Amino acid sequence: MAHRCFILVLLVLGVMFTVATARAIGDVPMRAKFEQWMAKYERFYTDATEKERRFQIFKDNYEYIESFNKAGKYTYTLALNNFADMTDDEVDTSYPCAGGGESERPKSATGSFRYADFDDLPDEVDWASKGAVTNAKNQGNCGSCTAFSAVAAIEGISQIKTGNLIPLAPQQIMDCDPNSLGCKGGWVSNAFIYVINNGGIASEVNYTYKAVTGSCAANETLYLAATISGYEFVPPNNETALMQAVANQPVSISICAHGRNFKRYGGGLFEGPCDSCFSHAMTIVGYGTYYDDDDTEYWRLKNSYGEGWGENGFMYIKRNVESYGEGLCSLAKEPLYPTK
Ligand SMILES: *[C@@H]1O[C@H](CO)[C@@H](O)[C@H](O)[C@H]1NC(C)=O
Ligand SMILES: *[C@@H]1O[C@H](CO)[C@@H](O)[C@H](O)[C@H]1NC(C)=O
Ligand SMILES: *[C@@H]1O[C@H](CO)[C@@H](O)[C@H](O)[C@H]1NC(C)=O
Repeated sequence: MAHRCFILVLLVLGVMFTVATARAIGDVPMRAKFEQWMAKYERFYTDATEKERRFQIFKDNYEYIESFNKAGKYTYTLALNNFADMTDDEVDTSYPCAGGGESERPKSATGSFRYADFDDLPDEVDWASKGAVTNAKNQGNCGSCTAFSAVAAIEGISQIKTGNLIPLAPQQIMDCDPNSLGCKGGWVSNAFIYVINNGGIASEVNYTYKAVTGSCAANETLYLAATISGYEFVPPNNETALMQAVANQPVSISICAHGRNFKRYGGGLFEGPCDSCFSHAMTIVGYGTYYDDDDTEYWRLKNSYGEGWGENGFMYIKRNVESYGEGLCSLAKEPLYPTK
C-alpha cells in the first residue's frame, strides 16, 4: 500500500514537473526575446505590473508580425521595432503629428513650380548615396514630425548648394517658430517661413533635440549653419511632378501613417494597406524602379522614428499606384521643398 502510494506521489510529482517545464519552455523564449528587445531599445519599466502589461503587448505584436511574415503575401516584412511594446493606439497618441491646426496653416502653393519643365528625369535618384541626407533621427515621444521633415529637406538643399552636409536642429523650429505647436505638431511650410525670416537655422550640435517643447534659445550669438531663401509646393496629386522635384532635391511630404503595418514596417517595398489622411510628415529622398516582372516603381522615404524603424530609419514605398491619384498613403497630397 505504502509502495503504491509512493508511486502515485511520484506520478503526481512527475506530471506537475512536466507541466511546469512545458510552461517554462512555452514562455521563456518569448520572455527572453522581450528581455533582448528591452536591452536593445533601452527600455525600463517602473514596476512588475507595468512590465507584465508591456510583455503582453509585445507578445501580441510579436505573434502578429511572425504570422504576417510567415504568410509572405506582401512585398515587405514587419519587424519588432521601437514600437514593439506599444499598441497601435498608443503609437498614434504618443507620436501625434496631425499638423498644426487649420488656423495656422499658410495658404498653399504660390503657384510657381520651378521644376515643371524639367524633363531630364533620371531612372533612379538616391540623395542619400549622393551625400545629401543625414542618418534618420528619432522624434521620440513627441509629435514633432513636421520639424524633422523640414530639417531633412533643408539639409538636402544645403548640401546640394554648398557641398556641406550638416545635421540641423528640429528643436529650434519647435521652440522658435511662432506657428509651431512644438510636440503637438506644426506645418512644414511654417517651419520654412520661420527659417527664412530668422536668417537660417542652427546645427543639431548647437541646438540639441530634447523631445519636449521649450522656450526659444535662438539669439544673436547662435551660429546659423544653413539658410534657405524660399519654398514652393509641388502641384498636388501628381507623382510625375513629384518625380521632377525629387530629381532635384529631397522633398517634404505629408503622409497617412495610420495602420498597424505602417508602424511595424521592417523592410522591403511597402504597398499598404493605408488610407488617405494627414497624419505624419516624412521626406522623399529618392525614387527608382525594381526591374522585376512588374517593373515595380518605388519612392525612398526618410522617417524620424529612429534608425531602429524600417531600413535604418528609411522606407521604400510603391510609386505610381493605380487608382490613387494622390499616391499611396496620400503621399503626393501636399509635397513642398525649400529653395536656396
Ligand atoms: C556651433 O557654434 C559655434 C559657435 O558658437 C560655431 O563655431 C560652430 O561652427 C557651430 N557648429 C556647427 C556644426 O554649426
Ligand atoms: C544666447 O543663448 C545662449 C544659449 O541659450 C545663452 O547661453 C546666451 O547667454 C545667450 N546670449 C544672449 C546675448 O542672450
Ligand atoms: C502633372 O505634372 C506634369 C509635370 O509637371 C504636368 O505636365 C502634368 O500636366 C500634370 N498632370 C496633371 C493631371 O495635372
